Amino acid sequence: MDKVKALSEAMSGQPDWMDGHSIRVMEYAVEIGKAMGLSAKSIETLRMAGLLHDIGKVDTCASVLEKRGGLTSTEFELVKLHPVHGAEILCQSDTLSLVAQVIRHHHERYDGTGYPDGLKDDGIPFLSRILYVADAFDSMTADRPYRKAPGKDYAVSELIRCAGTQFDPGVVWEFLKIAGDFPSGREYSADSLADLAPGLPFKKQKPV
Ligand SMILES: [Fe+2]
Repeated sequence: MDKVKALSEAMSGQPDWMDGHSIRVMEYAVEIGKAMGLSAKSIETLRMAGLLHDIGKVDTCASVLEKRGGLTSTEFELVKLHPVHGAEILCQSDTLSLVAQVIRHHHERYDGTGYPDGLKDDGIPFLSRILYVADAFDSMTADRPYRKAPGKDYAVSELIRCAGTQFDPGVVWEFLKIAGDFPSGREYSADSLADLAPGLPFKKQKPV
């Protein structure tokens, strides 16, 4: 019980905008998981991980989280600690250990240059790869108090551009097939994706 209380206290310490972000990331991640046919247990893990993925930012001061413009290298190193801090908080609960693992690795890049452990492609927990795409999409489509979001078309083209380097291309592909259902209502058929990103590398692998 104390652990649950500590968790909710940690959550309430986050800035207001982050609550909305966490809920949307949870929804996107769950929809990707369902589209990929994951088990009910994995979907539940994804739901918790989406909701709590930024809980480690409770240790990061608001002036850094809400800073306009780029971060200094020192500030970025601080922000990079949040997956580790989040996993440490959740590890205190036996029932949340799997969620903790998913959160620890939600900034690992598919090419192995991410953080905190530099895991690569299939070495990254699958649910973390889903969470990373969901997190990135919301970061590029939702306004923050300190900046306007670049928008959905930009987000889609960035996900495509970074598929295979930053993101798992299979997860990106599944996400783009359902992205038309997400806010702004635009349809993303294979043809419209090809317009956004000529030479879409994974179009031939998995045609709609
Ligand atoms: Fe994060």
